[in-house]
Amino acid sequence: MMSSNQQGEIAKGLEGVVAAETKIGFVDGINGRLVYRGYNIEDLVEKSNFEEVAYLLIYGKLPTLTDFKQFKDNLNLKAGISEDLFSIISKTTQKSHPMSALRTAVSYQGAFDPLSSNSDLKSQEKMGLSIMGSFPSIVAAINRSIKGEGRVVSKSTDYVEKFLEESFGRKPSDFEKEVMRVALIIHADHGMNASTFASMVTISTLSDMYSAVTSAVSSLKGPLHGGANEKSLEMLEKIGSPKNAEKVISEMLEKKEKIMGFGHRVYKVYDPRAKILKVYAKQLAEKTGHKDLFDTAEEVEKVMVSKLGSKGIFPNVDFYSGIVYKSLGFDSKIFTPIFALARISGWFARSFEYLHDNRLFRPRSLYKGEVGPLKYLPINERKQ
Ligand code: ACO
Repeated sequence: MMSSNQQGEIAKGLEGVVAAETKIGFVDGINGRLVYRGYNIEDLVEKSNFEEVAYLLIYGKLPTLTDFKQFKDNLNLKAGISEDLFSIISKTTQKSHPMSALRTAVSYQGAFDPLSSNSDLKSQEKMGLSIMGSFPSIVAAINRSIKGEGRVVSKSTDYVEKFLEESFGRKPSDFEKEVMRVALIIHADHGMNASTFASMVTISTLSDMYSAVTSAVSSLKGPLHGGANEKSLEMLEKIGSPKNAEKVISEMLEKKEKIMGFGHRVYKVYDPRAKILKVYAKQLAEKTGHKDLFDTAEEVEKVMVSKLGSKGIFPNVDFYSGIVYKSLGFDSKIFTPIFALARISGWFARSFEYLHDNRLFRPRSLYKGEVGPLKYLPINERKQ
Protein backbone atom coordinates (compact mmCIF):
# COMPACT_ATOMS: atom_id res chain seq x y z
CA MET A 1 0.00 0.00 0.00
CA MET A 2 1.20 3.44 -0.87
CA SER A 3 0.72 6.23 1.61
CA SER A 4 -1.29 9.18 0.32
CA ASN A 5 1.62 11.66 0.31
CA GLN A 6 3.41 9.41 -2.18
CA GLN A 7 0.67 9.56 -4.82
CA GLY A 8 1.26 11.64 -7.90
CA GLU A 9 1.83 11.68 -11.64
CA ILE A 10 5.36 10.96 -12.80
CA ALA A 11 6.75 13.24 -15.49
CA LYS A 12 9.67 11.04 -16.55
CA GLY A 13 12.75 13.15 -17.16
CA LEU A 14 10.61 16.07 -15.86
CA GLU A 15 9.31 16.41 -19.41
CA GLY A 16 6.75 19.20 -19.65
CA VAL A 17 7.21 20.23 -16.02
CA VAL A 18 7.46 23.98 -15.50
CA ALA A 19 9.76 24.47 -12.52
CA ALA A 20 10.86 28.12 -12.70
CA GLU A 21 10.14 31.49 -14.24
CA THR A 22 12.73 33.23 -16.39
CA LYS A 23 13.19 36.34 -18.50
CA ILE A 24 16.47 35.14 -19.99
CA GLY A 25 15.68 33.03 -23.00
CA PHE A 26 12.84 31.40 -24.85
CA VAL A 27 13.11 28.20 -26.87
CA ASP A 28 10.14 28.16 -29.23
CA GLY A 29 10.15 24.51 -30.21
CA ILE A 30 7.08 24.76 -32.42
CA ASN A 31 8.19 27.68 -34.57
CA GLY A 32 11.92 26.92 -34.39
CA ARG A 33 12.93 30.22 -32.75
CA LEU A 34 15.53 30.89 -30.09
CA VAL A 35 15.17 34.22 -28.31
CA TYR A 36 17.57 35.82 -25.79
CA ARG A 37 15.84 38.53 -23.74
CA GLY A 38 13.54 39.31 -26.69
CA TYR A 39 16.23 39.31 -29.41
CA ASN A 40 16.26 36.66 -32.14
CA ILE A 41 19.57 34.78 -32.19
CA GLU A 42 19.80 35.43 -35.95
CA ASP A 43 19.94 39.16 -35.22
CA LEU A 44 22.53 38.77 -32.47
CA VAL A 45 24.65 36.51 -34.69
CA GLU A 46 24.61 39.18 -37.39
CA LYS A 47 25.29 42.21 -35.21
CA SER A 48 26.69 41.36 -31.80
CA ASN A 49 29.69 39.75 -30.08
CA PHE A 50 29.87 37.05 -27.43
CA GLU A 51 30.64 39.28 -24.43
CA GLU A 52 27.73 41.57 -25.30
CA VAL A 53 25.37 38.59 -25.57
CA ALA A 54 26.63 37.28 -22.22
CA TYR A 55 25.97 40.69 -20.67
CA LEU A 56 22.48 40.67 -22.18
CA LEU A 57 21.74 37.25 -20.70
CA ILE A 58 23.12 38.10 -17.26
CA TYR A 59 21.89 41.66 -16.82
CA GLY A 60 18.76 41.74 -18.99
CA LYS A 61 19.64 44.49 -21.45
CA LEU A 62 22.23 45.34 -24.08
CA PRO A 63 25.10 47.22 -22.43
CA THR A 64 25.97 50.87 -22.96
CA LEU A 65 29.61 51.61 -23.79
CA THR A 66 30.28 52.25 -20.09
CA ASP A 67 28.49 49.05 -19.01
CA PHE A 68 30.44 47.08 -21.58
CA LYS A 69 33.81 48.46 -20.50
CA GLN A 70 33.00 47.70 -16.85
CA PHE A 71 31.86 44.19 -17.76
CA LYS A 72 35.08 43.52 -19.68
CA ASP A 73 37.12 44.83 -16.73
CA ASN A 74 35.20 42.51 -14.41
CA LEU A 75 35.76 39.51 -16.66
CA ASN A 76 39.46 40.35 -16.53
CA LEU A 77 40.19 38.14 -19.52
CA LYS A 78 43.78 39.36 -19.62
CA ALA A 79 44.53 37.52 -16.37
CA GLY A 80 44.07 34.05 -17.89
CA ILE A 81 44.95 31.15 -15.57
CA SER A 82 47.87 30.36 -13.31
CA GLU A 83 50.72 28.02 -14.23
CA ASP A 84 49.52 25.77 -11.42
CA LEU A 85 46.10 25.40 -12.98
CA PHE A 86 47.62 24.76 -16.40
CA SER A 87 49.68 21.98 -14.91
CA ILE A 88 46.65 20.44 -13.17
CA ILE A 89 44.70 20.58 -16.42
CA SER A 90 47.60 18.96 -18.23
CA LYS A 91 47.81 16.10 -15.74
CA THR A 92 44.05 15.55 -15.63
CA THR A 93 43.77 15.54 -19.41
CA GLN A 94 46.33 12.73 -19.72
CA LYS A 95 44.18 10.46 -17.54
CA SER A 96 40.60 11.38 -18.28
CA HIS A 97 37.98 12.91 -20.56
CA PRO A 98 38.53 16.65 -21.27
CA MET A 99 35.23 17.40 -19.54
CA SER A 100 36.64 15.83 -16.39
CA ALA A 101 39.60 18.20 -16.73
CA LEU A 102 37.20 21.13 -17.09
CA ARG A 103 35.20 19.99 -14.07
CA THR A 104 38.40 19.69 -12.04
CA ALA A 105 39.62 23.12 -13.20
CA VAL A 106 36.43 24.90 -12.11
CA SER A 107 36.39 23.10 -8.79
CA TYR A 108 40.11 23.80 -8.22
CA GLN A 109 39.60 27.52 -8.79
CA GLY A 110 36.72 27.51 -6.34
CA ALA A 111 38.91 25.95 -3.68
CA PHE A 112 41.20 28.99 -3.79
CA ASP A 113 38.61 31.76 -3.97
CA PRO A 114 37.63 32.98 -0.49
CA LEU A 115 34.33 34.19 -1.94
CA SER A 116 33.26 30.58 -2.37
CA SER A 117 32.23 30.48 1.29
CA ASN A 118 29.66 33.19 0.60
CA SER A 119 26.25 32.91 -0.97
CA ASP A 120 25.13 36.56 -1.14
CA LEU A 121 24.24 37.91 -4.58
CA LYS A 122 27.26 40.22 -4.92
CA SER A 123 29.69 37.37 -4.17
CA GLN A 124 27.86 35.01 -6.52
CA GLU A 125 28.04 37.63 -9.28
CA LYS A 126 31.78 38.16 -8.72
CA MET A 127 32.42 34.41 -8.76
CA GLY A 128 30.38 34.03 -11.96
CA LEU A 129 32.37 36.77 -13.66
CA SER A 130 35.71 35.34 -12.67
CA ILE A 131 34.76 31.82 -13.74
CA MET A 132 33.58 33.13 -17.10
CA GLY A 133 36.70 35.27 -17.52
CA SER A 134 38.92 32.23 -17.01
CA PHE A 135 37.06 29.91 -19.40
CA PRO A 136 38.85 30.87 -22.66
CA SER A 137 42.21 30.05 -21.04
CA ILE A 138 40.94 26.88 -19.33
CA VAL A 139 39.40 25.43 -22.47
CA ALA A 140 42.44 26.45 -24.54
CA ALA A 141 44.67 24.76 -21.94
CA ILE A 142 42.63 21.56 -22.25
CA ASN A 143 42.96 21.77 -26.02
CA ARG A 144 46.74 22.10 -25.86
CA SER A 145 47.09 19.42 -23.18
CA ILE A 146 45.17 16.90 -25.29
CA LYS A 147 47.87 17.32 -27.93
CA GLY A 148 50.69 17.28 -25.38
CA GLU A 149 51.48 20.94 -26.12
CA GLY A 150 52.71 23.56 -23.66
CA ARG A 151 51.07 26.69 -22.40
CA VAL A 152 50.44 29.76 -24.57
CA VAL A 153 49.53 33.06 -22.94
CA SER A 154 47.67 35.62 -25.01
CA LYS A 155 47.29 39.18 -23.80
CA SER A 156 44.10 39.61 -25.82
CA THR A 157 41.04 40.76 -23.88
CA ASP A 158 38.64 39.50 -26.54
CA TYR A 159 36.92 36.27 -25.43
CA VAL A 160 37.01 34.61 -28.85
CA GLU A 161 40.44 35.80 -29.91
CA LYS A 162 42.03 34.85 -26.60
CA PHE A 163 40.58 31.36 -26.78
CA LEU A 164 41.73 30.78 -30.38
CA GLU A 165 45.18 32.27 -29.84
CA GLU A 166 45.84 30.26 -26.69
CA SER A 167 44.46 27.12 -28.35
CA PHE A 168 46.53 27.31 -31.53
CA GLY A 169 49.51 29.41 -30.48
CA ARG A 170 48.99 31.86 -33.35
CA LYS A 171 46.79 34.82 -34.22
CA PRO A 172 43.47 33.56 -35.60
CA SER A 173 42.20 34.80 -38.97
CA ASP A 174 39.16 37.07 -39.15
CA PHE A 175 37.12 34.21 -40.60
CA GLU A 176 38.09 31.86 -37.74
CA LYS A 177 37.09 34.52 -35.22
CA GLU A 178 33.83 35.10 -37.05
CA VAL A 179 32.91 31.40 -37.02
CA MET A 180 33.80 30.98 -33.35
CA ARG A 181 31.90 34.14 -32.40
CA VAL A 182 28.80 32.75 -34.10
CA ALA A 183 29.21 29.30 -32.55
CA LEU A 184 29.53 30.78 -29.06
CA ILE A 185 26.53 33.10 -29.45
CA ILE A 186 24.19 30.34 -30.58
CA HIS A 187 25.28 28.04 -27.75
CA ALA A 188 25.11 30.69 -25.01
CA ASP A 189 21.76 29.73 -23.52
CA HIS A 190 19.06 27.19 -24.19
CA GLY A 191 16.30 26.98 -21.65
CA MET A 192 16.33 24.69 -18.66
CA ASN A 193 18.36 21.95 -20.27
CA ALA A 194 20.04 19.31 -18.10
CA SER A 195 23.27 21.22 -17.38
CA THR A 196 21.50 24.52 -16.71
CA PHE A 197 19.06 22.75 -14.45
CA ALA A 198 21.96 21.08 -12.64
CA SER A 199 23.54 24.48 -11.99
CA MET A 200 20.23 25.84 -10.71
CA VAL A 201 19.62 22.88 -8.41
CA THR A 202 23.05 23.40 -6.87
CA ILE A 203 22.72 27.16 -6.46
CA SER A 204 19.23 26.72 -4.97
CA THR A 205 20.85 25.16 -1.89
CA LEU A 206 22.73 28.49 -1.47
CA SER A 207 25.92 26.79 -2.49
CA ASP A 208 28.46 28.86 -4.46
CA MET A 209 28.80 29.62 -8.18
CA TYR A 210 31.89 27.38 -8.59
CA SER A 211 29.88 24.43 -7.29
CA ALA A 212 26.95 25.32 -9.55
CA VAL A 213 29.20 25.47 -12.62
CA THR A 214 30.96 22.25 -11.59
CA SER A 215 27.55 20.52 -11.50
CA ALA A 216 26.68 21.96 -14.90
CA VAL A 217 29.96 20.83 -16.47
CA SER A 218 29.41 17.34 -15.05
CA SER A 219 26.03 16.98 -16.68
CA LEU A 220 27.08 18.52 -19.99
CA LYS A 221 29.59 15.67 -20.32
CA GLY A 222 26.98 13.04 -21.21
CA PRO A 223 26.38 11.99 -24.84
CA LEU A 224 22.66 12.76 -24.67
CA HIS A 225 23.52 16.39 -23.99
CA GLY A 226 26.84 18.06 -24.79
CA GLY A 227 28.65 14.96 -25.98
CA ALA A 228 26.46 14.44 -29.03
CA ASN A 229 28.54 16.42 -31.55
CA GLU A 230 31.62 14.30 -30.84
CA LYS A 231 29.62 11.12 -31.42
CA SER A 232 27.90 12.60 -34.45
CA LEU A 233 31.21 13.46 -36.13
CA GLU A 234 32.53 9.97 -35.33
CA MET A 235 29.49 8.51 -37.06
CA LEU A 236 29.91 10.74 -40.14
CA GLU A 237 33.56 9.75 -40.42
CA LYS A 238 32.61 6.07 -40.20
CA ILE A 239 29.97 6.52 -42.90
CA GLY A 240 32.77 8.02 -44.96
CA SER A 241 30.89 9.05 -48.08
CA PRO A 242 27.43 10.29 -49.11
CA LYS A 243 26.77 7.08 -51.02
CA ASN A 244 26.92 4.99 -47.80
CA ALA A 245 24.53 7.20 -45.86
CA GLU A 246 21.21 5.53 -46.72
CA LYS A 247 22.46 2.00 -45.93
CA VAL A 248 24.24 2.83 -42.67
CA ILE A 249 21.45 5.00 -41.28
CA SER A 250 18.76 2.45 -42.20
CA GLU A 251 20.70 -0.32 -40.46
CA MET A 252 21.19 1.81 -37.34
CA LEU A 253 17.51 2.71 -37.19
CA GLU A 254 16.52 -0.94 -37.64
CA LYS A 255 18.68 -1.75 -34.61
CA LYS A 256 16.81 1.05 -32.76
CA GLU A 257 20.03 3.03 -32.38
CA LYS A 258 19.79 6.78 -31.82
CA ILE A 259 21.41 8.88 -34.52
CA MET A 260 23.50 11.47 -32.71
CA GLY A 261 22.86 15.06 -33.77
CA PHE A 262 19.17 14.48 -34.45
CA GLY A 263 16.08 15.07 -32.37
CA HIS A 264 15.44 17.43 -29.53
CA ARG A 265 13.28 17.44 -26.42
CA VAL A 266 11.92 20.91 -27.28
CA TYR A 267 12.38 21.52 -31.01
CA LYS A 268 10.02 19.49 -33.08
CA VAL A 269 11.08 21.45 -36.17
CA TYR A 270 14.53 22.31 -37.56
CA ASP A 271 16.77 23.62 -34.76
CA PRO A 272 17.44 27.30 -35.68
CA ARG A 273 21.02 26.96 -34.41
CA ALA A 274 21.68 24.06 -36.77
CA LYS A 275 20.37 26.20 -39.65
CA ILE A 276 22.91 28.93 -38.83
CA LEU A 277 25.82 26.53 -38.34
CA LYS A 278 25.09 24.54 -41.50
CA VAL A 279 25.98 27.60 -43.63
CA TYR A 280 29.34 27.96 -41.86
CA ALA A 281 29.97 24.21 -41.89
CA LYS A 282 29.63 24.22 -45.68
CA GLN A 283 31.95 27.21 -46.21
CA LEU A 284 34.56 25.93 -43.77
CA ALA A 285 34.47 22.36 -45.04
CA GLU A 286 35.04 23.59 -48.59
CA LYS A 287 37.91 25.88 -47.51
CA THR A 288 39.69 23.20 -45.45
CA GLY A 289 39.36 20.07 -47.58
CA HIS A 290 36.48 18.48 -45.66
CA LYS A 291 33.88 18.79 -48.41
CA ASP A 292 33.22 15.05 -48.42
CA LEU A 293 32.38 15.19 -44.73
CA PHE A 294 29.87 17.98 -45.29
CA ASP A 295 28.32 16.18 -48.28
CA THR A 296 27.98 13.02 -46.17
CA ALA A 297 26.27 15.04 -43.45
CA GLU A 298 23.85 16.55 -45.93
CA GLU A 299 22.98 13.10 -47.24
CA VAL A 300 22.48 11.76 -43.70
CA GLU A 301 20.19 14.72 -43.04
CA LYS A 302 18.15 13.90 -46.17
CA VAL A 303 17.80 10.26 -45.17
CA MET A 304 16.86 11.09 -41.58
CA VAL A 305 14.34 13.76 -42.52
CA SER A 306 12.67 11.43 -45.02
CA LYS A 307 12.46 8.66 -42.41
CA LEU A 308 11.82 10.56 -39.16
CA GLY A 309 10.88 14.14 -40.14
CA SER A 310 7.21 13.26 -39.68
CA LYS A 311 8.00 12.48 -36.01
CA GLY A 312 9.59 15.91 -35.57
CA ILE A 313 13.15 14.59 -35.75
CA PHE A 314 15.51 17.04 -37.49
CA PRO A 315 19.20 17.94 -37.15
CA ASN A 316 20.01 19.63 -33.86
CA VAL A 317 22.89 22.05 -33.26
CA ASP A 318 25.29 19.19 -32.58
CA PHE A 319 24.97 17.76 -36.05
CA TYR A 320 26.82 20.59 -37.79
CA SER A 321 28.92 21.94 -34.92
CA GLY A 322 31.27 18.94 -35.11
CA ILE A 323 32.08 19.69 -38.76
CA VAL A 324 32.63 23.36 -37.93
CA TYR A 325 35.02 22.66 -35.05
CA LYS A 326 36.90 19.96 -36.96
CA SER A 327 37.34 22.26 -39.93
CA LEU A 328 38.68 24.94 -37.61
CA GLY A 329 41.35 22.43 -36.58
CA PHE A 330 39.96 21.15 -33.27
CA ASP A 331 40.14 17.53 -32.14
CA SER A 332 36.70 16.04 -31.43
CA LYS A 333 37.70 15.55 -27.77
CA ILE A 334 37.52 19.31 -27.24
CA PHE A 335 34.03 19.80 -28.71
CA THR A 336 32.13 19.56 -25.44
CA PRO A 337 34.48 21.91 -23.56
CA ILE A 338 33.93 24.41 -26.42
CA PHE A 339 30.19 24.03 -25.80
CA ALA A 340 30.85 24.89 -22.16
CA LEU A 341 32.94 27.91 -23.21
CA ALA A 342 29.69 29.36 -24.57
CA ARG A 343 27.17 27.90 -22.12
CA ILE A 344 28.98 29.28 -19.05
CA SER A 345 27.09 32.51 -19.80
CA GLY A 346 23.70 30.74 -19.66
CA TRP A 347 24.61 28.76 -16.53
CA PHE A 348 25.75 31.90 -14.76
CA ALA A 349 22.79 34.02 -15.94
CA ARG A 350 20.16 31.44 -15.01
CA SER A 351 21.60 30.49 -11.62
CA PHE A 352 22.03 34.16 -10.77
CA GLU A 353 18.47 34.96 -11.87
CA TYR A 354 17.10 32.04 -9.85
CA LEU A 355 18.87 33.23 -6.70
CA HIS A 356 16.95 36.51 -6.79
CA ASP A 357 13.79 34.60 -5.88
CA ASN A 358 15.30 31.38 -4.61
CA ARG A 359 13.43 28.26 -3.61
CA LEU A 360 15.26 25.01 -2.89
CA PHE A 361 14.60 22.41 -5.61
CA ARG A 362 13.16 19.32 -4.01
CA PRO A 363 10.96 17.08 -6.19
CA ARG A 364 9.63 13.76 -4.97
CA SER A 365 9.83 10.26 -6.36
CA LEU A 366 7.04 7.73 -6.38
CA TYR A 367 8.00 4.89 -4.03
CA LYS A 368 7.46 1.52 -5.73
CA GLY A 369 9.40 -0.60 -3.24
CA GLU A 370 8.39 -2.80 -0.35
CA VAL A 371 6.46 -0.89 2.30
CA GLY A 372 6.95 -3.52 5.03
CA PRO A 373 7.62 -3.50 7.87
CA LEU A 374 9.98 -6.42 7.14
CA LYS A 375 11.59 -8.33 9.98
CA TYR A 376 15.26 -7.36 10.43
CA LEU A 377 17.59 -10.39 10.45
CA PRO A 378 21.13 -10.18 11.86
CA ILE A 379 23.74 -10.69 9.12
CA ASN A 380 24.72 -14.25 10.15
CA GLU A 381 21.08 -15.41 9.95
CA ARG A 382 20.53 -14.23 6.35
CA LYS A 383 20.38 -16.82 3.61
CA GLN A 384 22.67 -16.42 0.59
N1 ACO B 1 17.70 8.91 -33.74
C1 ACO B 1 16.76 7.99 -33.97
N2 ACO B 1 15.51 8.06 -33.48
C2 ACO B 1 15.26 9.10 -32.69
C3 ACO B 1 16.21 10.09 -32.38
C4 ACO B 1 17.47 9.97 -32.95
N3 ACO B 1 18.43 10.85 -32.72
N4 ACO B 1 15.67 10.99 -31.55
C5 ACO B 1 14.42 10.59 -31.33
N5 ACO B 1 14.17 9.44 -32.01
C6 ACO B 1 12.92 8.68 -32.03
C7 ACO B 1 12.70 8.00 -30.68
O1 ACO B 1 13.29 6.72 -30.67
C8 ACO B 1 11.21 7.95 -30.59
O2 ACO B 1 10.76 6.91 -31.41
P1 ACO B 1 9.42 6.05 -31.05
O3 ACO B 1 8.31 7.02 -31.27
O4 ACO B 1 9.46 4.94 -32.03
O5 ACO B 1 9.57 5.64 -29.63
C9 ACO B 1 10.77 9.26 -31.24
O6 ACO B 1 11.83 9.61 -32.15
C10 ACO B 1 10.56 10.39 -30.26
O7 ACO B 1 11.75 10.62 -29.59
P2 ACO B 1 11.92 10.80 -28.02
O8 ACO B 1 12.91 9.80 -27.51
O9 ACO B 1 10.60 10.92 -27.35
O10 ACO B 1 12.58 12.20 -27.97
P3 ACO B 1 13.13 12.87 -26.67
O11 ACO B 1 12.55 14.21 -26.64
O12 ACO B 1 12.97 12.06 -25.45
O13 ACO B 1 14.70 12.85 -26.96
C11 ACO B 1 16.87 13.43 -27.42
C12 ACO B 1 15.45 13.94 -27.28
C13 ACO B 1 17.37 12.80 -26.11
C14 ACO B 1 17.77 14.62 -27.75
C15 ACO B 1 16.91 12.37 -28.53
O14 ACO B 1 16.38 12.93 -29.71
C16 ACO B 1 18.30 11.83 -28.77
O15 ACO B 1 18.73 10.91 -28.07
N6 ACO B 1 19.05 12.37 -29.79
C17 ACO B 1 20.39 11.96 -30.02
C18 ACO B 1 21.35 12.66 -29.07
C19 ACO B 1 21.57 14.11 -29.42
O16 ACO B 1 21.74 14.49 -30.58
N7 ACO B 1 21.61 14.96 -28.37
C20 ACO B 1 21.85 16.39 -28.51
C21 ACO B 1 20.63 17.18 -28.15
S1 ACO B 1 20.88 18.89 -28.44
C22 ACO B 1 21.86 19.36 -27.14
O17 ACO B 1 21.92 18.82 -26.08
C23 ACO B 1 22.67 20.55 -27.44
